[in-house]
Amino acid sequence: MNLILLGPPGAGKGTQAKLLEERYGLAQVSTGDMLRAEVKSGSELGQKAKAIMERGELMPDSIMIAMLGARVAQPDASRGFILDGFPRTVPQAEALDVLLRETGMPLAHVIELQVDDAALVERISGRFTCAKCGEGYHDRFKACRIAGTCDKCGGTEFIRRADDNAATVGARLEAYHRQTAPLLPYYGAQGKLRVVDGMAEMAEVSRQIEAILGAPRG
Ligand code: AP5
Repeated sequence: MNLILLGPPGAGKGTQAKLLEERYGLAQVSTGDMLRAEVKSGSELGQKAKAIMERGELMPDSIMIAMLGARVAQPDASRGFILDGFPRTVPQAEALDVLLRETGMPLAHVIELQVDDAALVERISGRFTCAKCGEGYHDRFKACRIAGTCDKCGGTEFIRRADDNAATVGARLEAYHRQTAPLLPYYGAQGKLRVVDGMAEMAEVSRQIEAILGAPRG
């Protein structure tokens, strides 16, 4: 089963993709995580990405389409994948349609997480992750059980993303409404779009998604 999680920055795409990865055995494909790995490596692509991401703008379609094509060709994606952060423009969605058709990998659902802009700012500004294992947290909505210690690996160092600041969040939201929101009617016309209340608590959002997907096999 191949899925797209669609929604504005901070809607909970990464949070839900990780849960679906565990529960359904699908591969999470996060283009944001891939770009952050490039930034960390200091590659030429990473240097370009760093500047664009810190401005809250989107990377060029041609780069992202090539990156996605290489990623879904990897063996772990053959068991099914969850796209988190791709596509983000109509040209990316059109290229994805071609890729899925050529590789015989059908798209089951496009799940939109609907969240108000005001709630997104609070979610993004409170987000942090464990530097060691990458587990995601939130100052208010998902704090560590023991303050300053990761629940999952016991790590004590945490990271906040460079683009998670008030100025950049405004630009990211603007990019979402202008460039990504047109994908809603695009997938609506294909009969693939399913809507979930992303304002609900994390467990309830998962429940709504699982109601769409059905119980995991085996
Ligand atoms: P990317 O990394 O994809 O960021 P994003 O889309 O802005 O999404 P986020 O990761 O910020 O949010 P999320 O929806 O995953 O929310 P999360 O689960 O963390 O992209 C970053 C940049 O890379 C882009 O700006 C662009 O420059 C570039 N890029 C990436 N892909 C691209 C592409 N295809 N084309 C062009 N450029 C591209 O949740 C947020 C917080 O809220 C967490 O702390 C979480 O704990 C909390 N939370 C989650 N769910 C709930 C809930 N239900 N209730 C309360 N709190 C919740």
